Amino acid sequence: MTDNIDSILHEDRVFPPPAGFVKTAHIGGQAALQALRKQADTDYEGFWAAQARAHLTWHKPFTQVLDSRKAPHYQWFSDGLINISHNCLDRHLATRGDKTAIIFEGEPGDTRRITYAELHREVCRFANVLKKMGIAKGDRVVIYMPMVPEAVVAMQACARIGAIHSVVFGGFSVESLKDRIEDAGARLLITADGGHRGGKIVELKATADKALAVGCKSIENVIVLERSKNTIAFNTQRDHWWHDAIKGVSEHCAPVWVESEHPLFLLYTSGSTGKPKGIQHSSAGYLLGAVTTMQWVFDIHDQDIFWCTADVGWITGHTYVAYGPLATGATVMMYEGAPVIPHGGRFWEICQKHAVTIFYTAPTAIRALMKLGDEIPNKFDLSKLRLLGTVGEPINPEAWMWYHRVIGKERCPIVDTWWQTETGAHMIAPIPGAVATKPGSCTLPLPGIAMDVVDNSGNSITEPEQGGFLVTRKPWPHMLRTVWGDEERYRKTYWGEFGGKYYIAGDSARRDKDGYFWIMGRIDDVIKVSGHRLGTMEIESALVAHPRVAEAAVVGRPDDIKGEAIFAFVVLRGVRPKGGVDAALTKELRQWVTEQIGPIARPDDIRYSDNLPKTRSGKIMRRLLRSIASGQPITQDTSTLENEAILDQLQGKV
Ligand code: WT7
Repeated sequence: MTDNIDSILHEDRVFPPPAGFVKTAHIGGQAALQALRKQADTDYEGFWAAQARAHLTWHKPFTQVLDSRKAPHYQWFSDGLINISHNCLDRHLATRGDKTAIIFEGEPGDTRRITYAELHREVCRFANVLKKMGIAKGDRVVIYMPMVPEAVVAMQACARIGAIHSVVFGGFSVESLKDRIEDAGARLLITADGGHRGGKIVELKATADKALAVGCKSIENVIVLERSKNTIAFNTQRDHWWHDAIKGVSEHCAPVWVESEHPLFLLYTSGSTGKPKGIQHSSAGYLLGAVTTMQWVFDIHDQDIFWCTADVGWITGHTYVAYGPLATGATVMMYEGAPVIPHGGRFWEICQKHAVTIFYTAPTAIRALMKLGDEIPNKFDLSKLRLLGTVGEPINPEAWMWYHRVIGKERCPIVDTWWQTETGAHMIAPIPGAVATKPGSCTLPLPGIAMDVVDNSGNSITEPEQGGFLVTRKPWPHMLRTVWGDEERYRKTYWGEFGGKYYIAGDSARRDKDGYFWIMGRIDDVIKVSGHRLGTMEIESALVAHPRVAEAAVVGRPDDIKGEAIFAFVVLRGVRPKGGVDAALTKELRQWVTEQIGPIARPDDIRYSDNLPKTRSGKIMRRLLRSIASGQPITQDTSTLENEAILDQLQGKV
């Protein structure tokens, strides 16, 4: 992490928007951007109201813009009525019915193209299936599926009838799926026999069966998509094949008009304490964020082929696969599998084959593909690309420059987008036709987004290069509304400091002399592994659930590709293995965590010691563990340690 910060500090390259790009951009040039900023600054509510009228189709127009009476439960456009699936599908039918909405490519190489008219029919039909299963407005539906078009159909069908979806990433295992189903109180589970990922079949139905065997009493029915054709168990009382369920069902389904604030979905994400929290998003405000950023940041045009590589199990896959592209009438590319199957050029091959114009991925993928060398991307025709993007963690300037040179051929602007599950859509990001980029910086806040960096007392830090807390000073339309079933956690986590005046992002950041934002990392115990957010507490809880583990402390250490790797310090019940090494047990514990949470949470390193380093008050000295895990010299004061000898154990010396 510190290496990263150092190299960022010395970064002074600036890339102005290419002239050709500026000419056709939605926001082309400084004047256009300044005009937008001015509107937002002089009349904040008026600005967002105008955006909401221009970009969304309303059943009943709103008169109320921002309602702060129940702060921090802010409400936007609350007396308006809307339907999200109507905004993503129906409103395009007259002008774009035959336009391709989704281009799909499976990992085995199968492809499909689905038009807006076809997608509309499939969504309506499936919405009718949901109704037949007794699902109505406000009911929760868990979606546990591979990256296939039916995942989007399922999400849009929920939106059509006002059901609240909660997508669980297909890489999560039994316990994680069970926790999420139970916390949401879901009545229906939509899954698949399996999905193709990394040359293997991910057996989703088998995992779902295990989760349902140990809990999830609220689930009444399970719909199963046939995708990978692996053998599965089938409970005819409860399970229904997707293809049977839609047989003979009408393709007409009137949208259910919902209030702007009606929850569109829950999405669980890790925090620093306790179990993952169900981030609850609204309908109208959320979609507005998706649409404005598709236009401002991705500069989406009718002829674009837009590819965001994120899985629909993450917020990025919600906003920039399932909702934003469709709400703007774009063509969205969906790819089921891993970037290196069957070869390291798969992403570039897909860009060539499907003439992708806008490509959005994570720094971890860029770093991994960069390692394979320039020859691989150079074999493919990437000339259709016109804009590149990144998200999920800070991108190191070296990877940024490679992306710029080898993928973008020094022709495509790069949008480094800072945002979070909680923010719903981009918050700090370059507007590619107006803002010059700097490798490693997400540049400037978007119009109508009041980002700031503040000190311990909540005062804005105006001096350049001074780090502080990243906060948002004003509520925005696409912000989270609450943590599902846990008001207290919502208030405490996001509004608990600075007298409740600001939204606290949980990141530290600094600004340079041009006011550009540089994200420095998390301030809590959340780590970012391959751009995925994991709470160290979650992994610790999984470890101590193992009968041989007495205590565990998990920290992140820098990793060239993944950004951060997981390092676990473990105290066993009974005798510590000689030299702190026990290969068999380590293998078992790694497998254990994989089963408890999922492969993304599997510790990279495990080291055994007789004790954990604690302060007098019993707090684990995490900073010390972080230094040790990254192989750095210990600079912290260790004089309060009860047993200094454990330092040698923690460092793997004895
Ligand atoms: C955290 C949010 C939102 C989509 C994916 C991640 C980090 C995100 C950037 C960026 C530096 C970034 C932050 C943030 N992050 N984008 N462009 N530069 N850091 O969503 O899992 O909710 O994680 O990801 O630390 O707080 P998420």
